[in-house]
Amino acid sequence: PRRWTGILDRYRAWLPVTDKTPSLTLCEGNTPLIPAHQLSDRVGTQVFFKYEGANPTGSFKDRGMVLAVAKAKEEGSRAVICASTGNTSASAAAYAARAGMEAVILIPDGYVALGKLAQAMMYGAKIIAVRGNFDAALQLVREVADEAGLTIVNSINPYRLQGQQTAAFEICDALGRAPDHLCIPVGNAGNISAYWMGFCAYAEKGVVPNRPRMHGFEAAGAAALVKGEPIEHPETFATAIRIGKPASAELALNAARSSGGGIYAVTDDEIREAYRLIAREGVFAEPASAASVAGLLSLHRQGVIRSGETVVCVLTGNGLKDPDNAVAVSQTQPMVVDCDRRAVAAALGVGR
Ligand code: F0G
Repeated sequence: PRRWTGILDRYRAWLPVTDKTPSLTLCEGNTPLIPAHQLSDRVGTQVFFKYEGANPTGSFKDRGMVLAVAKAKEEGSRAVICASTGNTSASAAAYAARAGMEAVILIPDGYVALGKLAQAMMYGAKIIAVRGNFDAALQLVREVADEAGLTIVNSINPYRLQGQQTAAFEICDALGRAPDHLCIPVGNAGNISAYWMGFCAYAEKGVVPNRPRMHGFEAAGAAALVKGEPIEHPETFATAIRIGKPASAELALNAARSSGGGIYAVTDDEIREAYRLIAREGVFAEPASAASVAGLLSLHRQGVIRSGETVVCVLTGNGLKDPDNAVAVSQTQPMVVDCDRRAVAAALGVGR
């Protein structure tokens, strides 16, 4: 038996890992590619979920963070800093703890899902809640990092995207080729860029014969790439992608354009509906992740996705991250009954 030891080991040849790079892992990666039966029936093609919620901190960020933190340590840094809508900060805090480093995180006060905040607190980060949005927090990080001697581990750190390519590698390794379409949520626009880098690297080296069409989905209230200009006050219930000035805009637009895909907007109602549909397949993803499935349904209605094609929807984060939205959106409520057999039987509609 060979134990899975994380992406730096598994994809070492594809990453800037050298003998000087400290080994670091929480055994991230190797996430399941789950067939989505109900969705496949609905759209008449083969749909898979790439379930990134199965990573150690519950999101895809771990793939980029393990490399960014390992390289920061290699370069002699003692602390990392990031701005975050929650997942990046949870991951930075975890890998910093693992590497024996400090983590400083800037979050938009009041707009981070409860599970993500709990993680950063437990992993021991210094948490600064800014009265402003993610874009403002990222600007502040850029301004203070140097002076404070902190390494930025947002996706403007090139190691982040390099590590995140490994999800594309895994999809290709699992399918034996690239899918025909990749549907992915877009916030700061790093992940779609990383996937495209990964698919291109595999195709260029002849590991796979094809590349997917890349379809990225922004929340309609935060759709800067679709609108072609920054959004001053981005709004969406999918707080992970409540971003109005995506840092990797150019890379993301290039991925969409050169793959024959696109960047589109999906409404909060569409995201909410997809959020429920995914869960009804037995898979719990957070709201932002559901933008990929909302997008798939929209592309299917437009006839962009044809029968017989293979589609992968990236589910970027675990549903447990955001219990408040889950409870708010769910259509079932617990039935509270007395603690006896007759009350439970009555609740089940049996007995008399
Ligand atoms: N899905 C989830 C669950 C996210 O947390 C993010 C980004 C995205 C999608 C979008 O990915 O930014 O690479 O386009 N979260 C960042 C954070 C911004 O701070 O955790 P992207």
